[in-house]
Amino acid sequence: MSYNLLQGKRGIVFGALNPDSIAWKVAERAHEEGATLTLTNTAVAMRMGETQKLAEKLNTIAISADATNVEDLNNLFIQSMEALGGKIDFVLHSIGMSPNVRKERHYSDLDYNYLNKTLDVSAVSFHKVLQTARKLDAINEWGSVVALSYVAAQRTFYGYNDMADAKALLESIARSFGYIYGRERRVRINTISQSPTITTAGSGVAGFNRLLDFAERMSPLGNATAEECADYCITLFSDLTRKVTMQNLFNDGGFSNMGMSLRALQQYEKGLHEDCECGPAAEEHHFD
Ligand SMILES: NC(=O)c1ccc[n+]([C@@H]2O[C@H](COP(=O)([O-])OP(=O)(O)OC[C@H]3O[C@@H](n4cnc5c(N)ncnc54)[C@H](O)[C@@H]3O)[C@@H](O)[C@H]2O)c1
Repeated sequence: MSYNLLQGKRGIVFGALNPDSIAWKVAERAHEEGATLTLTNTAVAMRMGETQKLAEKLNTIAISADATNVEDLNNLFIQSMEALGGKIDFVLHSIGMSPNVRKERHYSDLDYNYLNKTLDVSAVSFHKVLQTARKLDAINEWGSVVALSYVAAQRTFYGYNDMADAKALLESIARSFGYIYGRERRVRINTISQSPTITTAGSGVAGFNRLLDFAERMSPLGNATAEECADYCITLFSDLTRKVTMQNLFNDGGFSNMGMSLRALQQYEKGLHEDCECGPAAEEHHFD
């Protein structure tokens, strides 16, 4: 259902790789709400993924850009403003990647070159997007920029690895840049902290299905879906949230404020009499 919340607005959406991507749903919803937008992803993702297909569906263009490359970002903003016919009103940063997670490096044995890559792609790229936009004066007054985060920025989650550090930095950048961009040009910057969601990036996290189940049992409203995340993004891009900035906003069914739920406790109790096959003191539990 459309409320025309983004009628006449122009946007850029990063990170729509395939129909599971959260960014994919956001782009579809933004289009439905009356926005015009461009899509962007890395050259490799554009070749391997389906970004171009979505662009055709939304009657727009997909521009290849590595979000860690300032020159690419410069080109992206200039091309987007040309294609859309004016300055940008909203940007979605929906980018995450950790080579340490991919190569299963344990958090206490990180490869530091990989860590640099994780931080650059998943967090510093957000700063690069904002700095590029500001230098080009590419975002309209009361524009809105949103990046997607995860509660591992505040609390420790087994297996989330160096992505937790990246998300903490991402949320800090939203605050630091939010002050400058807000004061100067009334541009809002927020992060949405989303429930675990089945996507290409999400499924890379160790024990993802168990995490998904645990979060579902812990959250009074259940996990938020990618579609529900898209709905929340639309409200933040709209004029209805003009004074919301520098926030990390949880879209997680209540998970982040829970300690223990009955549903999670009951499930835990079912397994109490069973030790895992290798026994509690086994070497495999060393890192649990
Ligand atoms: N899926 C989850 O459980 C979950 C939960 C909370 C937050 N998030 C966050 O949501 C965002 C989107 O992830 P998703 O789950 O939709 O997965 P996804 O794999 O569909 O999206 C990740 C995107 O990042 C892009 N990307 C990677 N490196 C890039 C680079 N250098 N430049 C530009 N783009 C690059 C990928 O091509 C891909 O399109 C990420 O920030 C992720 O951390 C996901």
